[in-house]
Amino acid sequence: MCGIVGYIGNKEASPILIDGLKKLEYRGYDSAGIAVYHNESLQITKTKGRLVALEEKLQGNELTGSVGIGHTRWATHGAPSDVNSHPHGNSTQTIAVVHNGIIENYLTLKEELQADGVVFLSETDTEVAAHLVDLYYNQCGDLIDAVIKTMGRIEGSYALGVVCRDHPDLLVAARKDSPLIVGLGKGENFVASDIPAILQYTRDIYLLDDHEIAVVTRDDIKIINRNKEEVKKEIYKVTWDVAAAEKGGYEHFMLKEIFEQPKAVRDTLLPRLPQNKEEIVLDDIKLSQKELEKINKIYIVACGTAYYAGLIGKYLIERVGRIPVVAEVASEFRYRDPIMDENTLLILVSQSGETADTVAAMRRAKKAGARVLGVVNVVGSTIAREADDLLYTWAGPEIAVASTKAYSTQVVAMYLIACHIAMETGKMSTAEFIELRKELHTIPDKIDEILKQADKLKEYADHYMSSKNVFYIGRGLDFAVSMEGSLKLKEIAYVHSEPYAAGELKHGPIALIEDGTLVIGIVSQEELFDKTVSNLREVKARGAKILAIAQEGHTEIEKTADDVIYVPRTHWMFTPILANIPQQLFAYYMATGLGHDVDKPRNLAKSVTVE
Ligand code: G6P
Repeated sequence: MCGIVGYIGNKEASPILIDGLKKLEYRGYDSAGIAVYHNESLQITKTKGRLVALEEKLQGNELTGSVGIGHTRWATHGAPSDVNSHPHGNSTQTIAVVHNGIIENYLTLKEELQADGVVFLSETDTEVAAHLVDLYYNQCGDLIDAVIKTMGRIEGSYALGVVCRDHPDLLVAARKDSPLIVGLGKGENFVASDIPAILQYTRDIYLLDDHEIAVVTRDDIKIINRNKEEVKKEIYKVTWDVAAAEKGGYEHFMLKEIFEQPKAVRDTLLPRLPQNKEEIVLDDIKLSQKELEKINKIYIVACGTAYYAGLIGKYLIERVGRIPVVAEVASEFRYRDPIMDENTLLILVSQSGETADTVAAMRRAKKAGARVLGVVNVVGSTIAREADDLLYTWAGPEIAVASTKAYSTQVVAMYLIACHIAMETGKMSTAEFIELRKELHTIPDKIDEILKQADKLKEYADHYMSSKNVFYIGRGLDFAVSMEGSLKLKEIAYVHSEPYAAGELKHGPIALIEDGTLVIGIVSQEELFDKTVSNLREVKARGAKILAIAQEGHTEIEKTADDVIYVPRTHWMFTPILANIPQQLFAYYMATGLGHDVDKPRNLAKSVTVE
């Protein structure tokens, strides 16, 4: 979603801001802009469209100056347009503000300001913040106080970056419910909504918490609370490399991340499965055996791809851990008054650890007394910091909007959690675990085997390229996998597709099957193989074309399916992680074949920090 970069130092701010924004392009955006202090005034250039459009606009009109803020906008209030782009200014253009999040009471505030004669130029909620800072600054003459007062008036979420003509040596940033970091440099400092934006300049960062304000000058960073008391922060050292956030020779981040999956899975798995211990080592899960035994209900809550990983967790925990599990999307869970108490465990799955609805679900559950376990990829993110227990998926930075390696590592996390619960509560013996562990160790190599079939998947994608409607069907774990496959196709290829429980097709959707409709059948579950194949025959009889994903050795599928991709054989628990890989490649090649920019799919954002 929106990206923020701020710079204060001795270099030209403008190229640093643009470069930082480029590193955040993956988050999804529709317009961009920068404000730079120059010659005793604030100069703002902004435009609808990609960063190249902003660069074109700046050509010949370069903004020179060493203090500035930049923004990429993902429209919420008001369509993408030049005027709705950030930064937004006050009436005299002496204050410029960039904002991520949503100001929920912006209409009330706008009316109040308009009644005082303020003229609004844009339809955005953010412009309210610019005028509020202006109002309070004029009243009290102190920019920090003005920002604090503005924070007191805003309801909703925000990460704010503020510069003021009267303070050419100052950059102010503040957050509530939207990520914001401050980067420490030498004679220069940075503000950003995400690490990649500033990683080439510094690895030392402060992670701002809610209601904190960063007062940033060239040589100093002060983090204060709303009472202006200094908050002592630890420096977080970024350990991953700039190269991890680069394409490294691949055409797209998505393809690179698909091919990184063996490593991502190994990194997530191996430290947790030491050969010399007959247990799973989950250091940040403090839930004791006694506490676990008391848990009588589990919710798994997440959004998008992370939710589909959570669905795998539901099947597994219920089946091997024998505790009832409800998996639910966070946007529904947070508003429907779910029944929770101290015997409830809430498992949150989130790559970013910042998804607004997932964060809200966490806070709600904590209020109700439930125990919260976060499965998170981004170190130090909000969920990582606020959850009671934590399991990091060590996928490394995921840049492509469409999640691939994060999903695979989330599924690994579900395996670890399910086995851990089952062992701790006496439902799985050590001998059973040792068998499973042995098999788990083979998964990265098996993923590698599937990746070798990329060319074949490209052929299939080319062959089915004209499909307008695609069904993904499966049963049990295969059904959960089919949902992720269908989502991937929608997200990047913009092809309408529906995942369906294979046995449920005949209760309606089968009416949509006609000559040539593509049905992707996931038949990797041994015990449900025959059942799903029967359902595939039903659609074949009505003219469907079938592409099946099956385990090696199940060659009888060739009698039913037109095309088949085989995945290596494995234990039933671990088929989802394998069966999903061909789906990722299929969607990728469909999307590139159709000429879409898979790394920046239309209307989508990587980290959805608004509800
Ligand atoms: C967005 C992204 C998806 C992601 C979902 C949840 O929709 O485009 O790829 O699965 O958010 O994000 P999270 O960071 O919570 O996993």
